[in-house]
Amino acid sequence: MSKVRLEDISKVYPQGGGVRNFSVEIEDGEFFAILGHSGCGKTTTLRVIAGLETPDSGRIFFDDRDVTELPPEKRNAAMVFQSYALFPHMNVFENVAFGLKARKMPKDEIDLRVAEALELVQLSELEKRRVTEISGGQQQRVALARALAVHPDILLLDEPLSNLDAELRYSTRRQLAELQKRLGTTAIYVTHDQEEALELAHRIAIMHDGVCEQIGTPDEVLDAPATPFVEGFLERQRRISRSL
Ligand SMILES: Nc1ncnc2c1ncn2[C@@H]1O[C@H](COP(=O)(O)OP(=O)(O)OP(=O)(O)O)[C@@H](O)[C@H]1O
Ligand SMILES: [Mg+2]
Repeated sequence: MSKVRLEDISKVYPQGGGVRNFSVEIEDGEFFAILGHSGCGKTTTLRVIAGLETPDSGRIFFDDRDVTELPPEKRNAAMVFQSYALFPHMNVFENVAFGLKARKMPKDEIDLRVAEALELVQLSELEKRRVTEISGGQQQRVALARALAVHPDILLLDEPLSNLDAELRYSTRRQLAELQKRLGTTAIYVTHDQEEALELAHRIAIMHDGVCEQIGTPDEVLDAPATPFVEGFLERQRRISRSL
């Protein structure tokens, strides 16, 4: 429930990787994907939006508020990390409840929100289990539940389904899209999976080597690739969509 505007964002690491001159305006309630090969700067871009990295230059706005200097906890954005970043000494319930307790929410409300989030990711029966005693795919779903439970204005998702098997990945991504729509949350979804981005997103930014090559709807990027890279990158998907 917030617009996100990046104005000419650059964050380049001393070794040379990162993101350069990224500008975009993401609509309130939009499902926006950032798509590209490994190392192209997707996670860096998401970390800048979350406030976990300070950009070298450029500004970030949530609605009309300049959040460039705001710490992460003041942005009401929740991030699902590629590496999960769960708390190993806590069980599943406590992990999902963490952000709610930090917000000093009443216990009844916490119980309700945790139950709702765990049901969504189909882990209700594991709420008492320690997170060190569940599988990688289950940990990934706990991380997703933890972010969803706080009902953030902006949901930042870094390859949130990459560790799930094909069937679960498919059903979870459907549920995620439905939930995002129902809550009206603005979602920024990082993936290297073209099919996932094309199915889920209203618009997609295609990144290559730290640079955003094109932003458009799935139809736009498939039908009118803006650069030779985008054209080559999406060639297979274009053939699939033509043959349907
Ligand atoms: N903390 C860091 N210090 C130095 N270089 C980094 C750091 N984090 C990332 N990089 C480099 O910046 C580039 C972009 O990294 P980033 O993590 O944003 O890529 P990505 O698109 O998320 O890749 P993947 O799909 O593999 O997760 C890479 O070349 C990476 O090695
Ligand atoms: Mg990454």
